[in-house]
Amino acid sequence: MRSTRKGRTRIHKRLFSVLITFFICSANAGADAPVSETTEACLECHASITPGIVADWQNSRHAQVAPAEAVTRDVINRRISVDEIPAGLAEYAVGCAECHTLNPEKHNDNFDHNDYPVHTVVTPPDCAVCHPVEEAQYRENIMSWAQVNLSENQLYQSMMQTINGMQHFRDYKMIFDEADETVNEQSCYFCHGTEVTVSGLETRETDLGEMAFPVLTGWPNVGVGRINPDGSQGSCSPCHTRHQFSIEVARKPYTCAECHKGPDVPAYPVYSVSKHGNIFSSSGDKWDFVNVPWVLGADFTAPTCAVCHVSLVVNEDEEIIAERTHRMNDRLDRRIFGLIYAHPHPKSPRTSIISNKNGLPLPTELTGEPVAEFLIDSTEQVQRNTSLKKVCLACHGEQWVAGHFEGLRKTIEETNAVTLTATDIISQIWRDGLAQGLPQGANVFDEAVEKMWVEQWLFFANSTRFAAAMGGADYGVFANGRWYQSKNIRQMHDWLQMRRELRK
Ligand code: HEC
Ligand code: HEC
Ligand code: HEC
Ligand code: HEC
Ligand code: HEC
Ligand code: HEC
Ligand code: HEC
Ligand code: HEC
Repeated sequence: MRSTRKGRTRIHKRLFSVLITFFICSANAGADAPVSETTEACLECHASITPGIVADWQNSRHAQVAPAEAVTRDVINRRISVDEIPAGLAEYAVGCAECHTLNPEKHNDNFDHNDYPVHTVVTPPDCAVCHPVEEAQYRENIMSWAQVNLSENQLYQSMMQTINGMQHFRDYKMIFDEADETVNEQSCYFCHGTEVTVSGLETRETDLGEMAFPVLTGWPNVGVGRINPDGSQGSCSPCHTRHQFSIEVARKPYTCAECHKGPDVPAYPVYSVSKHGNIFSSSGDKWDFVNVPWVLGADFTAPTCAVCHVSLVVNEDEEIIAERTHRMNDRLDRRIFGLIYAHPHPKSPRTSIISNKNGLPLPTELTGEPVAEFLIDSTEQVQRNTSLKKVCLACHGEQWVAGHFEGLRKTIEETNAVTLTATDIISQIWRDGLAQGLPQGANVFDEAVEKMWVEQWLFFANSTRFAAAMGGADYGVFANGRWYQSKNIRQMHDWLQMRRELRK
């Protein structure tokens, strides 16, 4: 039975082989690097099985430039960061097999696929075979810990449950059921990353006969801190969508918008209405998003997210204005995302190890003081801020830039102070037993007035700070900014007074 299927498959393979040879020769005459024998076998079937993937790959640099050629470029123009390419990989295009058969011994999801050891989930350590610098930096990026930072933090877990859990109304009471894992995967872990595991092997009927594949749970997912079947963390695909893996996509703000958009994290909406975003929208189609290194002035005239946070930026004499970093907080001296106050940046990207004086896993006390031992010191803060300012100063004067950061500093002080007032009110409510919170050892996120308190710091204070940091004034005023900050706090106060009256 099995052998006839194989026989049938072979005939198909021959046919596709002819087609694919024609396809490769006609579509990309002369432009491609040579393809390894194994990748050729993959292409023979996949040109018809997954033509979209093959076409994307053919348009990518991976199909066009072999590693041996890539390393010959000057360091500043080079797009791979490995010095010695492992035997067998140097001379060929980076094809299906070069990625999907790497490190097979580490991959729980590796399987025998038409006699090749293939895994579907290509992970950062696989990319590190040729891009070790980016992979090592990304491991230090808070993003690659995004799953762990939620799943290991009891306080965030209780927040997650109150948002995702099911609520039923019975006998005038709310009955609460915890969310199941699929709901959490569709919600928080969609961006933060799921845990991908292999739950078995399944034989499926395909267009080319029966084949066995591993069954992946928690997949598909393209979250930044995904836990992979080889035990590694993170994914490079959130910004380098497969199978083009293009630098252009990563440099455009739409890529970041997928996750940095909501009222809690409004970097993208703020950016898109800022002057920088306006210039990008108006003139961006004339910019060069492919050039490496990226030349300020010649290639682009206003910053995108990548320019301020990630990119290697040079002037027209190729003097470096900023080094590239995949540890994307190298130019961030503090966290303006309130937990629950803005604070100096954490030292470790694994924020779940942080604990404040009250034993809460938060980088600030409830009264606002930063938990210093887990956060960077002021020397490091100045260094990071200086690196960011160097980018601004390539287009702006000293006074403009100083004024901008002074405005941000004041806004942080002000929004932290308003958060303290809201926290004073909720603490009184808890002490009076009008809602069940910290003193009662109860969930602090589930009751109506607690949700008002959360919105105070998570939406309104954050939005106001993001506007001060990245432009987009309305997000600091009427669109989730100071108007709601001032209104919500009065409503919290009214709630308190009303409940006190009712209790009498
Ligand atoms: C004989 C034809 C054939 C060859 C050769 C082949 N594949 Fe496949 N491959 C398939 C078919 C058919 C599927 C299943 C498509 C479907 O889900 O219906 C598949 C599925 C896959 C999947 C997805 C598995 C999943 O989890 O759903 C990956 C990844 C893959 N192939 C990679 C490769 C790589 C890499 C090579 C070369 C080393 C290769 N294939 C060679 C036919 C082939
Ligand atoms: C959060 C978004 C994001 C993630 C995740 C990400 N990158 Fe990048 N990457 C970028 C941006 C933006 C650039 C453009 C940098 C520049 O302009 O210098 C880039 C550039 C690159 C380049 C081109 C470097 C060069 O010399 O031209 C490589 C290679 C790369 N990334 C590899 C990776 C790998 C490997 C991973 C996973 C470990 C990864 N990236 C994860 C955003 C990301
Ligand atoms: C540069 C490395 C790289 C190359 C080259 C590459 N892939 Fe992939 N491939 C990936 C990554 C990364 C993923 C995403 C897996 C994940 O992390 O979820 C992926 C996913 C896939 C999937 C599953 C995606 C889906 O949407 O079902 C298939 C099938 C696949 N690749 C086939 C191929 C084929 C065929 C080729 C050759 C034309 C190829 N790949 C070349 C890295 C690569
Ligand atoms: C076997 C080596 C190898 C592996 C494995 C590999 N790459 Fe690459 N990568 C290259 C080469 C070669 C280039 C093209 C260099 C050039 O054009 O000079 C490249 C270029 C890139 C670029 C820049 C593309 C552009 O448009 O400038 C990105 C981004 C990238 N790779 C990401 C990845 C990611 C993500 C993975 C893992 C899923 C990966 N690579 C795996 C060798 C590799
Ligand atoms: C649309 C994408 C997205 C979704 C969905 C999402 N988050 Fe986030 N989350 C982010 C981003 C982006 C940040 C980083 C914000 C920043 O630093 O500006 C973040 C950061 C966090 C942090 C800070 C973690 C730390 O210690 O570093 C917590 C806590 C958090 N999110 C909780 C949640 C919870 C709970 C859910 C589900 C109810 C959730 N998130 C869903 C994008 C998302
Ligand atoms: C798939 C979702 C996703 C995408 C796409 C994404 N991010 Fe993130 N990002 C996150 C999450 C989630 C966090 C917070 C993780 C945590 O706190 O544990 C984060 C954190 C960050 C941080 C770190 C903040 C800090 O204080 O350390 C920066 C900077 C950042 N992202 C920039 C970007 C840029 C620039 C892009 C686009 C090139 C981008 N992100 C694309 C989800 C995403
Ligand atoms: C003009 C430069 C600039 C641009 C463009 C820019 N940012 Fe920022 N970003 C900043 C500054 C300044 C801060 C605050 C830095 C500080 O105080 O340490 C910041 C902070 C952040 C943070 C950190 C939030 C936290 O947790 O503290 C994230 C995430 C972020 N930006 C994402 C983005 C995204 C996504 C885009 C594009 C949609 C973008 N930025 C565009 C300058 C910029
Ligand atoms: C590549 C050049 C470039 C870089 C880099 C750059 N800017 Fe700008 N910026 C501009 C241009 C051009 C304008 C529009 C000036 C005008 O209004 O005519 C602008 C406008 C602004 C505005 C006015 C905002 C508004 O929405 O009205 C502020 C504030 C600002 N930039 C701050 C910064 C800061 C802070 C940095 C660094 C974190 C920075 N810029 C980096 C080019 C740049």
